[in-house]
Amino acid sequence: MRLLAIESSCDETSVAVVEDGRRIHANVVASQTALHAQTGGIVPEVAARAHLRWMIPVLDEACARAGVTDLHSLDGIAVTEGPGLAGSLLVGITMARTLAWDTGLPLVPVNHLEGHIYAAWLLDPDEPTRPEPVFPLVALVVSGGHTFLVEMPDHLRYRLLGQTVDDAAGEAFDKVGRLLGLPYPGGPAIMAAAATATRRDRRFPRAWMGDSGDFSFSGLKTAARRAVTAALGPDADATEPDGSSLPSDVVAELAWAFQDSVVDVLATRTVRAAAAVGARTVVMGGGVAANGVLRDRIAAGLRTVGVPLVVPRPGLCTDNGAMIGAAGFHRFLVGERAGPDLEARPSYRLATTDIASGSVTRITNVTT
Ligand code: KG4
Ligand code: ZN
Repeated sequence: MRLLAIESSCDETSVAVVEDGRRIHANVVASQTALHAQTGGIVPEVAARAHLRWMIPVLDEACARAGVTDLHSLDGIAVTEGPGLAGSLLVGITMARTLAWDTGLPLVPVNHLEGHIYAAWLLDPDEPTRPEPVFPLVALVVSGGHTFLVEMPDHLRYRLLGQTVDDAAGEAFDKVGRLLGLPYPGGPAIMAAAATATRRDRRFPRAWMGDSGDFSFSGLKTAARRAVTAALGPDADATEPDGSSLPSDVVAELAWAFQDSVVDVLATRTVRAAAAVGARTVVMGGGVAANGVLRDRIAAGLRTVGVPLVVPRPGLCTDNGAMIGAAGFHRFLVGERAGPDLEARPSYRLATTDIASGSVTRITNVTT
């Protein structure tokens, strides 16, 4: 069963063809990173316009790479309905609705966050097949907009174990990257700078949030701002210090201390959650899961409790269409369909503290 999958929730325009929720036939991603680097962050209007510009070329390229000459040879169209930027989501949804209307193929709405989780099921075109993640599992989603831990007793069923009460981990990377004068997006830039640090003894705070299981990263940003201001000296602007004039060894040292704090909290919490719920697998997704130090630290912690970690390769941790095809397959199997009235859900939640039957809330049989 092959699905065409469309993702446009934030700043990547992506279309994929995925078979049976696992095998990638094509996964074309047009990144807007260079565009947003000019403003140091995403301007929603600019993002939406870039999606419009790239959606059809990306669709054509995905079909060409997957050898799809006639969309009728596919079984359905999956699309991200939320959460994300309203204008960006609308471009993907309009494309998907139009293709479904034109071809008569079923339209399957997908939660972007569950896409990040299901990326752990994906196989690259030539990758040897490997077993699927085993339930019950714990999933850590760490992206630019979200940071949370869920328990999954089975497909499409989620119980929230903890979430950020303020900034997402990726957002903290991006904001601290800006304070340090590093290029956008901050995550990869901080990881690269931290790797060059020779002094590794500075300690940024950790917010453990009692037993709530929640995360908080805004205090770290404040700590980083203070540290940058102190390093710049008495003439620095304490509200918006600009670390771009700092020597690279100081930037590296601060980047290392910041990353160490984020990684410590995320890894400790994830390993503890896996042990507490008796998880048989831990999966991890979202842009920050591309961070090699985080991946290594979680893998090492999980080895001590004997739980395997499944993390997609970095290119499948950041936003892409294939992950929507993976999650869409399972929604397709349970009969979830959207009609031509499908709308964007910018604040779509994935999980609550009860085990809900996933976010599959609206099952209709309208296919065109
Ligand atoms: O999942 P994603 O591509 O988009 C959202 O759905 O938000 O995540 C983007 C986020 C950005 O904040 C970016 O800085 C972060 O992921 N990121 C990283 C790394 N690569 C991307 N953070 C830390 N280390 C990385 N290597
Ligand atoms: Zn994402």
